[in-house]
Amino acid sequence: MSRFQAQRGTEDVLPKDSASWRRLERTFEAVVSLYGYEEIRTPTFEESELFIRSSGETSEVVDKQLYRFMDKGGRDISLKPEGTAPAIRAYLEHSLAQQGQVTRLWYCTPIFRYERPQKGRLREAHQVGLELIGSPSPAADAEVIEVTVRFYEALGISGLQVMLNCIGRTETRSRFTSALLDHIKPWLDSIEPDQRERALKNPLRLLDNKDPSIQEAVNGMPPILDFLEDESREHFESLKSILSRKGIRFEVRPSIVRGLDYYTDTVFEVQSDSLGSQNALCGGGRYDGLVEQMGGPPTPSVGVAMGVERALMVLESLGKSAAPPGLDAFIIAATDEGRVPIPDLAYRLRALGLSCAYDFDARSLKNQFKQADRAGARFAVIIGDDEMKSSSATIRDMASGAQALVPLDAVPTAIGARP
Ligand code: HAM
Repeated sequence: MSRFQAQRGTEDVLPKDSASWRRLERTFEAVVSLYGYEEIRTPTFEESELFIRSSGETSEVVDKQLYRFMDKGGRDISLKPEGTAPAIRAYLEHSLAQQGQVTRLWYCTPIFRYERPQKGRLREAHQVGLELIGSPSPAADAEVIEVTVRFYEALGISGLQVMLNCIGRTETRSRFTSALLDHIKPWLDSIEPDQRERALKNPLRLLDNKDPSIQEAVNGMPPILDFLEDESREHFESLKSILSRKGIRFEVRPSIVRGLDYYTDTVFEVQSDSLGSQNALCGGGRYDGLVEQMGGPPTPSVGVAMGVERALMVLESLGKSAAPPGLDAFIIAATDEGRVPIPDLAYRLRALGLSCAYDFDARSLKNQFKQADRAGARFAVIIGDDEMKSSSATIRDMASGAQALVPLDAVPTAIGARP
């Protein structure tokens, strides 16, 4: 037992689990590459103002969850709570925009949020995400949703429902917010001042609040879709028909409002029942004002981020975790003499791309077999006095127990090297 433990809300990824992580990351890269997305890696920390300006001062992510500190140079710094604002900062800083073209970026990143940790909710979590920068077309929204669905399908998670909403723009939102405040006035008058203050900070978030008394207060409120301006309504209608033509199933959910302030029009989430209360597998939407807000030209954009830990939880519940790859061979010395040719044999196997390991510490035969088992070796390659005499090795298939004596030179081929 160590004197130290991982911080609350952080997790070690142990060797038994890392194969699932790598498969997820590789699958994501393979799927998004088919659509032309290119990888971007941004730093772990940024100037706090970047997140305040993009996610919004009243968003929970900024208001309560930022890992924010002064560095030794007196700079106000935050660990990134999400990947969109840093990606857009880098896009502008390095002039990635190309006249008349869209830019497609993907990332895989840790994110930091000072949350109350629970299953599926961490203080250091990981996201894979994408940003399609520079297109106002509903076809861009549809592409981002399509890639998301294809990614989950490629992982083996199917039957998920995409939940879609349109939250309009500033005008719609201010009309909707005043109607909402009217609607919940009796409830607002009945609660404590500090709860009222919290509710008034970001009234839209009341719509996706799970507290039964809040749900009752907003019950009967007409959906934000009834408040949309023509342009937003047309955008939403085209998006829905493009998705239907692509055969992507979705459900319109007026309660999806999202927790970050930069969204305009389209917002969506994909949820999974097997996740329990933290059931959002991913979330995204359109953010037509963000690039401009960060000092760039008007650049309509859309993106999504998917929780890595949450996707892995679903895969585990489906019995679809990946197994660690294991070694091709563990080389075992049956006698002291047998140790002599082992380093050379190991060198040759590795040069041919075969993974192997062997014991350094003169451990017993039994112990070496145990090591082979733990390493998930497909073959044990055993060298003892008899094998030494005939310059050969005994190869044991660890699964079936079948054994064969082969010349040392033929060991690589016997365990799978291409001749
Ligand atoms: P978000 O909804 O805040 O959106 O996060 C996206 C996903 O990240 C969530 O659905 C969830 O799966 C995962 N996630 C977030 N916080 C945690 C946490 N504390 N623990 C575990 N998983 C978590 C964004 O971050 C936007 N940047 C998405 C986006 C990209 N919008 C446009 N482009």
